[in-house]
Amino acid sequence: MASNLVIIGTQWGDEGKGKIVDLLAEYADLVVRFQGGNNAGHTMVVDGEQFISHLVPSGILQQKTCLIGNGMVVDPAVLIEEIDYLIGKGIDVTPENLMISEKAQVIMPWHKTIDHGREKKQGKDRIGTTGRGIGPAYEDKASRKGIRFAEMIDPAVFAERVRTVLEEKNFFIEHYLKETPVDPDAVIREYSGYAERLKAHVTNISVIIDDGIKAGKQILFEGAQGTHLDIDHGTYPFVTSSNTVSGNACAGAGIGPKAIDNVFGIVKAYTTRVGQGPFPSELFDAVGEAIQKKGAEFGATTGRKRRCGWLDTVLLRNAVRLNGLTGLVITKLDVLGGLDTLKICTAYEYNGERIEHFPGDLKVLAGCKPVYESLPGWSEDISGIRSKEELPKNAKDYLARMEELLEVPVRIISVGPGRKETIVLENPLA
Ligand code: GDP
Ligand code: IMO
Ligand code: MG
Repeated sequence: MASNLVIIGTQWGDEGKGKIVDLLAEYADLVVRFQGGNNAGHTMVVDGEQFISHLVPSGILQQKTCLIGNGMVVDPAVLIEEIDYLIGKGIDVTPENLMISEKAQVIMPWHKTIDHGREKKQGKDRIGTTGRGIGPAYEDKASRKGIRFAEMIDPAVFAERVRTVLEEKNFFIEHYLKETPVDPDAVIREYSGYAERLKAHVTNISVIIDDGIKAGKQILFEGAQGTHLDIDHGTYPFVTSSNTVSGNACAGAGIGPKAIDNVFGIVKAYTTRVGQGPFPSELFDAVGEAIQKKGAEFGATTGRKRRCGWLDTVLLRNAVRLNGLTGLVITKLDVLGGLDTLKICTAYEYNGERIEHFPGDLKVLAGCKPVYESLPGWSEDISGIRSKEELPKNAKDYLARMEELLEVPVRIISVGPGRKETIVLENPLA
């Protein structure tokens, strides 16, 4: 029986989704991204070589059919750059194995101008976006001012859309943001080249997925960002502009919810966050620094240092519920080796009261103090271990406590960045 699996991030992104999607893609026929854009940076390490993908689904190294869903916002220049990079590495990327939804939104130059301009204007109140134009592109989608791939590849329609939309955008850019307005003719010229290059990839991916399901193919859905960056459920307004939760795999790819069999949540063995926003279990001491260093916690998209902290199971229980998780994938467990004591946040304290559920009100969240329990650490290097039994007892206890607190079984344990540095306990696609 074929089985379809959604992979999502449970924390604030960068949990190791790319590595796990690359690993599981071996057992899938189609790999689909359903939201986000090149704010994502998904790292795969195969035979010591590192690939970072921003737009192309992480199934490409396994040479699976990769689909860019309607829920995505796509910068065509970045996509072409990524395709050329992969081809240069000897990886086949063709209209047969990389398809783009005709309904996916196109990131336009004004989206980037507005993203940067707003962040600059907001100063200390900025979101700390990736500056890729993601928020403004989703805003335009919702306000029906967006341009989709279907329109981009039709020269007459595209030129007219650009001129109409820019009337309003340039007014805002020039008079409110005090930035340089965008020249419509230059945009039309530039994007006609992208359209020419990409049009053979543009299709109805909902039909491709449906045909695949009918033919008994297995589909792997690759989430980007993380549950707490979700536009509805995250730490609003310090979030991205799309729904990152598993439910959006359906709307963002064009399939119904019954097509999904399993949802795996990727959990980094500690917590990280890039950009601004609340982070109750954040560490500001030498332990946090040690984790940042050992985990090489730098953003794969912007190179910014990631903020680090202890595992937070209040946050994770929120992710279990919001995504309907059927399995956990624990990544970067190797990074915790060498610490005497590990802490797990099990609840928050707010105004002397114990809070079990992740608060929706940012003011409350800002006042929450983590309640920790301590577990003994391990000193061994576990990156060479390939079975759960061989893990140090304290590492096994750490995982068991996580399962107990989250009430979801651990299915995969990652002990290094490489594809092979993994302990697979249960693979729903195999
Ligand atoms: P994504 O955005 O969720 O795909 O994650 P990123 O690629 O942005 O960040 C995860 C980082 O951790 C990358 O540099 C990976 O190569 C690395 N990584 C993934 N899993 C492991 C692991 O188990 N151990 C270690 N040490 N590194 C890992
Ligand atoms: P992956 O898929 C971590 C963060 C940004 C910022 C906020 C809004 O690699 O896990 P945006 O540019 O989306 O408007 O920025 O969201 N952010 C991410 N953080 N991993 C990501 O993706 C992210 N994508 C966006 O840092 O705080
Ligand atoms: Mg990332």
